[in-house]
Amino acid sequence: YPSNPQMGDGSILERTNCRAKGGAAGFKVAILGAAGGIGQPLAMLMKMNPLVSVLHLYDVVNAPGVTADISHMDTGAVSHFGVKLFPTKDNSMPRISNPRTLVKNGGVLTTPTQALGFLGQSELEGALTGMDLVIIPAGIPRKPGMTRDDLFKINAGIVRTLCEGIAKCCPNAIVNLISNPVNSTVPIAAEVFKKAGTYDPKKLLGVTSLDVVRANTFVAEVLGLDPREVEVPVVGGHAGVTILPLLSQVKPPCSFTHEETEYLTKRIQDGGTEVVEAKKGAGSATLSMAYAAVKFADVCLKGLRGDAGVVACAFVASQVTELPFFASKVRLGRTGAEEVYQLGPLNEYERIGLEKAKKELAESIQKGISFIRN
Ligand code: NAI
Repeated sequence: YPSNPQMGDGSILERTNCRAKGGAAGFKVAILGAAGGIGQPLAMLMKMNPLVSVLHLYDVVNAPGVTADISHMDTGAVSHFGVKLFPTKDNSMPRISNPRTLVKNGGVLTTPTQALGFLGQSELEGALTGMDLVIIPAGIPRKPGMTRDDLFKINAGIVRTLCEGIAKCCPNAIVNLISNPVNSTVPIAAEVFKKAGTYDPKKLLGVTSLDVVRANTFVAEVLGLDPREVEVPVVGGHAGVTILPLLSQVKPPCSFTHEETEYLTKRIQDGGTEVVEAKKGAGSATLSMAYAAVKFADVCLKGLRGDAGVVACAFVASQVTELPFFASKVRLGRTGAEEVYQLGPLNEYERIGLEKAKKELAESIQKGISFIRN
């Protein structure tokens, strides 16, 4: 993990920069749905991220268990409830106030940092208050034969409730929305924030980084390259034909035969289904998703820290097409997605794909908006 150039390297310099540019003690991150298939490995990877000082893990089940487990990792971030951190003058990690005071918790003697986690609706406020970044992988995943849209009925309500909590407790936080169908849950979140008067389009990002991760991997396989050297922009949305890889813009520059283009486009669009079917009813992508989510969260935190030139694909409020939301490359800064890039030149195959993507996306976006408005 530290060798990945897109991640923090954990060095003293990295931490010093983090303090100098980003905030005295790194960033505070909450994961909602932290006990799930994505949530658990995501929590583990975020606990290892040197840009994170405080990690809050919230779920409606098993949050204390996951938090206790994660909290035994000897990394810098602390995952706990209600302990004040204060910055240090030197380069060491932030200290806990009164580190040598043992406290009674439910009659049991513990240190003040003992992990508790946040369990259930009554603890949502505690989980969210003061957060800089909120990552949401809460909700049910697909089973074989289901589309992402089949998840709408249940996940729409979950996302609404969690976003109402965000509007109340941390309206300035960056939100990374993973719960499917992303093409509808992002518009739902936007409507909830608008209703609450807290909507900032720059701060609401639908996570499509798994599509990019898959595209990089599959293209590298075809080209015989190391996937870490490959960059494929994936635009549109996050479901079936709305996932539009721009193979004409791959870096390093290369060309594909029509057969390769068809194979790659289809495999990237159906990557999620490939995993759902292989798991035979035991869920959808969790480990690759946690990896992709943490890669995306890391670029959001680097943007918040003030790093220059931080760019990634995400599903955001957009004027790139006539649709109100669209996934494309965005530049991340201190206030979120500060710039949304145009698609660049498309070839004929991509232009046809774009029209198909827009048609389906328009319906999914409208469905999300109507869920809150009506
Ligand atoms: P999972 O079922 O393993 O975990 C979901 C977790 O959410 C569970 O721990 C559950 O208790 C929790 N949860 C349910 N209702 C909640 C609520 N009201 N508040 C807080 N937590 C709640 O599912 P998995 O595999 O982790 O997937 C989660 C979501 O991520 C699904 O909607 C799935 O479709 C989506 N997903 C998105 C991808 C993307 O690229 N954006 C890729 C893969 C999955």
